[in-house]
Amino acid sequence: MTSTRYGAIKHDVGIFSKMEMHLTAVLKLLEQKPDCVEARNKVEEMMTLVTSLTPYQIDRSTSLSPQLDRIMTETSTLDLNTLLKEGKLVTKVDNTDLNMISFPGQVQLLQFFVRIINAKNILEVGTFTGYGAFGMAEVMAPGGKVTGIEIEPVFCDLVRKRAREYNLNVEVIQGKAIDVLKSLAKEGQQFDMIYVDCIKTEYLEYYQIIMDNNMLSPNGLIVCDNVMWSGKAITRSDSAGSALDDFTKTVVQDKRVVSEKNRMDQLEEMNEVMTAYAALLRWDSVDPAQS
Ligand SMILES: C[S@@+](CC[C@H](N)C(=O)[O-])C[C@H]1O[C@@H](n2cnc3c(N)ncnc32)[C@H](O)[C@@H]1O
Repeated sequence: MTSTRYGAIKHDVGIFSKMEMHLTAVLKLLEQKPDCVEARNKVEEMMTLVTSLTPYQIDRSTSLSPQLDRIMTETSTLDLNTLLKEGKLVTKVDNTDLNMISFPGQVQLLQFFVRIINAKNILEVGTFTGYGAFGMAEVMAPGGKVTGIEIEPVFCDLVRKRAREYNLNVEVIQGKAIDVLKSLAKEGQQFDMIYVDCIKTEYLEYYQIIMDNNMLSPNGLIVCDNVMWSGKAITRSDSAGSALDDFTKTVVQDKRVVSEKNRMDQLEEMNEVMTAYAALLRWDSVDPAQS
């Protein structure tokens, strides 16, 4: 699959990458058909739009800070292959997984959400090197805190080091997302915004723990990455795609929340790196008779 490079890490742009790949193939076929000039022009025009959307969206959104750029650059130099060989990683990630870092456009959108709901207590499920966590912390309400959950001790160390250096209230809890969520629930913790960016087949379980234990503040927001899974949620063509399709199907029927997806896609200029959000708003004014 083709990728687009923004900053130091190559990002897969989901459905858009697929479109680019297919359009390239069509253009190649049309090269052998000199009588199809009009078709070729139309495909070329489509190609220009597909490849221009993401940089345009990033360019016309508020810029990210130099300290976030630094996290992106430093993440690109991580040698996960060696860490894996040395047995320092719990999961089987290697250098091909560096692109699991959030995409700049995602962090711009996350910052927008944090600002509009004036989020103070923020939770991130799946923190990696802290690109999203620090992005949200930079714009959270005064006195706020971002709590990350991350399974890899190596990534937790990086985040803790940066939190001290950047003097931002970002804390990371090392452990399996489901276990940590359950223990935060037991403590009675509640969050204004929760960014879910972890194991796709576990999204439904995260959601159930959060909602069944009252972990989302009234008018709080849950933002979930990759709910389209490059279109595989529609076609249910792998286990993650099917799980994500089940997840959004469940959420949309849950009277405790209002859910939004289409408009989020548009906000993202249909940028499939974020692969669409399910933004879930716990809305206490929902008619109790219907719940
Ligand atoms: C997509 S990345 C998160 C990217 C991050 N949100 C950002 O803004 O750059 C997913 C992260 O989840 C972590 N992870 C994987 N399995 C996990 C689990 N069971 N519990 C907690 N974290 C997990 C991975 O190590 C990885 O760092």
